[in-house]
This record gives sequence, C-alpha cells and structure tokens, in this order.
Amino acid sequence: AVERTLSIIKPDAVAKNLIGQIYARFEAAGLRIVAARMLQLSEEQAGAFYAVHKERPFYKDLVTFMTSGPVMVQVLEGESAIQKNRDIMGATDPKKAAAGTLRHDFADSVDENAAHGSDGPETAAAEIEFFFGRDGICPRTR
Ligand code: CMP
Repeated sequence: AVERTLSIIKPDAVAKNLIGQIYARFEAAGLRIVAARMLQLSEEQAGAFYAVHKERPFYKDLVTFMTSGPVMVQVLEGESAIQKNRDIMGATDPKKAAAGTLRHDFADSVDENAAHGSDGPETAAAEIEFFFGRDGICPRTR
C-alpha cells in the first residue's frame, strides 16, 4: 500500500553536506518528498519527539546531539514507504548496517547515525503530525 513516513536527516549528515545524496537515494527507491523543512530543534522539541526513549540511558545524549545543528525533516510517500526508508537507512548501529545503506556509508556511531525513520504506521502518523500538522503535506497533483 502507499504509505507516508517521517524521515530526519540528522545534524551529522547535514554538517557533512549530504542532503542531496540522501534525497537521491529516496528518489531512486521510488519515494517522493511530499513535505520538507530544515530547522534547528530546541531541547523541548527534541525531548518531546523522542519522549518514548525518555527512560533509556542514551536519552540525554540523543537530545543534545539532535539539537547540535540543523536537521532536515521530510515526509516520504510511496509503496511501503515505512519499510523502504528503513531499508535505505540500514541498522541503527552503523557498524551493523549493510553496505550501501545510509548508516553504513555516511555514519560513524549509533549516536550520530545520519538519519531517523518512523518504525511503524502509528509512529509515522504521530511523527508526521508532530512536524507538519494535518495540512503541511503537498500531495501529488500530476
Ligand atoms: P533513531 O531512529 O533516531 O531513534 C532513537 C535514536 O537513539 C537512534 O536512532 C540512535 O541514534 C540513538 N541511540 C543511541 N544509542 C542507542 C541504542 N543503544 N539503541 C537504540 N538507539 C540508540
């Protein structure tokens, strides 16, 4: 089915000037960018976005990293977009990510791992709403 998922190009990948190369991979996989915004997350925003991880030992470092520079946030649309984006990203830990994935090719550590992608339909809907609200999306018209 055609789905939408939320993708974040994290501060490490933005700093490495990789936005275009990452977008090219989304497009090559048949995913369309139907909303996008570059922003510097506040501590409040990053903390709220990752609230599910609040009790995890890496939470504080995660919030600090995600607020360390601008991020590029986009909604990807396409057939099986959620799984496709996860396949493009590769395993959370770049050391375990397969060759040809974003994290293998562009990231150095589990903390600074280049990209985020929604992990399922419910989180995708919630994460899209978090950044773009209900009418921040530009569906295809042609
Ligand atoms: P992300 O998909 O953005 O979701 C939470 C992030 O926490 C994850 O990617 C990693 O960058 C980061 N993180 C750091 N340590 C861990 C860990 N041990 N397990 C999972 N995620 C971690």
